[in-house]
Amino acid sequence: MSVKKIGIIGTGTMGHGIAQVAACSGFEVLIKDINEERTQKAAGQIEKNWAKLIEKGKIPAEQAETAKKRLKVCAQTADFADCDLIIEAITENEQVKKDLFKELNGVVKKEALFATNTSSISITLLATASGRPAQFVGMHFFNPVPVMKLVEIIRGLSTSDETYKIAFAVAETLGKTAIAVQDKPAFAVNRLLIPMINEAFVALEEGVADAKAIDAAMQLGCNHPMGPLTLADFVGLDVALAAMEVMHRNLGDKYKPSVLLRKYVESGRLGRKTGRGVYDYSEQK
Ligand code: CAA
Ligand code: NAD
Repeated sequence: MSVKKIGIIGTGTMGHGIAQVAACSGFEVLIKDINEERTQKAAGQIEKNWAKLIEKGKIPAEQAETAKKRLKVCAQTADFADCDLIIEAITENEQVKKDLFKELNGVVKKEALFATNTSSISITLLATASGRPAQFVGMHFFNPVPVMKLVEIIRGLSTSDETYKIAFAVAETLGKTAIAVQDKPAFAVNRLLIPMINEAFVALEEGVADAKAIDAAMQLGCNHPMGPLTLADFVGLDVALAAMEVMHRNLGDKYKPSVLLRKYVESGRLGRKTGRGVYDYSEQK
């Protein structure tokens, strides 16, 4: 089985980045969001990103032109029928993901593989819900996808050797470094990163320092490229909270989500994607 055509479902922060890289790496790519406007917006954003890369001399114009021809948008889940691999990048919600994979299993060709970009949820659990556990794998990309080199490859209990091998091969073709990570809550990166982000909200709530000072502390004191609160806005506060909740449920009270983080999410301040999180981005929209 070789992967030529990749379907990407969910075209938000992660889905559009994965699609951009996949089309540029020679795959036929089909994208869809539940919200058609977002699908179109993602296609537009990808084109803009390619234009910037051409301008900077990072890719030749012909490569972007060919990639553009390889990228298609669709409106129906059934349009994914002939994809070889589907990468799911929808909202970090267990039930919503389970429902999607169940639906996909009914419409996508029997030999196709399923991958999830979940930040934290059990691969085995989603694999079981998908109805094709041997052909299911975790492929966890990082934000921003075109820049970040890593993909965590996570095998569920029933993932076949062939599926696992193909996931590594696809990551390599995408120009990424793939590492093997066990199917434990939030895998390797987020097991370490998300509690740090959560603790930044606890520190903010306790008045340890103001938001800008907490960010400066980690940027200037630890050489992090972004402070944890800026990073939370970049990742999406809903994503960070959902991952923290998975760790809390599975690993205990040490991973209790910050009350302030939850309040931001409840108020719709999800970060850059909604124009406001810890900081205000309304001017940049
Ligand atoms: N998409 C594509 N390219 C982007 C980009 C984006 N959204 N943002 C920045 N870039 C590119 C820029 O074009 C620039 O490219 P060149 O060097 O080729 O010109 C390069 O990245 C550096 O960008 P900038 O100079 O504008 O800004 P910077 O030096 O501050 O870097 C950054 C931006 C790469 C995002 C950097 O701040 C960074 O690495 N931040 C931390 C990111 C991080 O930790 N990601 C992981 C999040 S956790 C996760 O993804 C897992 C999860 O499940 C939640
Ligand atoms: P996002 O909120 O930016 O985008 C999610 C998209 O999924 C939205 O456009 C939404 O309309 C769409 N969607 C929801 N339900 C859908 C459905 N049933 N069918 C099709 N589309 C649907 O989220 P994101 O940050 O791109 O995260 C997507 C996934 O990637 C999550 O599982 C998240 O945990 C994971 N992830 C996020 C990051 C990050 O830094 N944001 C990094 C790695 C992994």
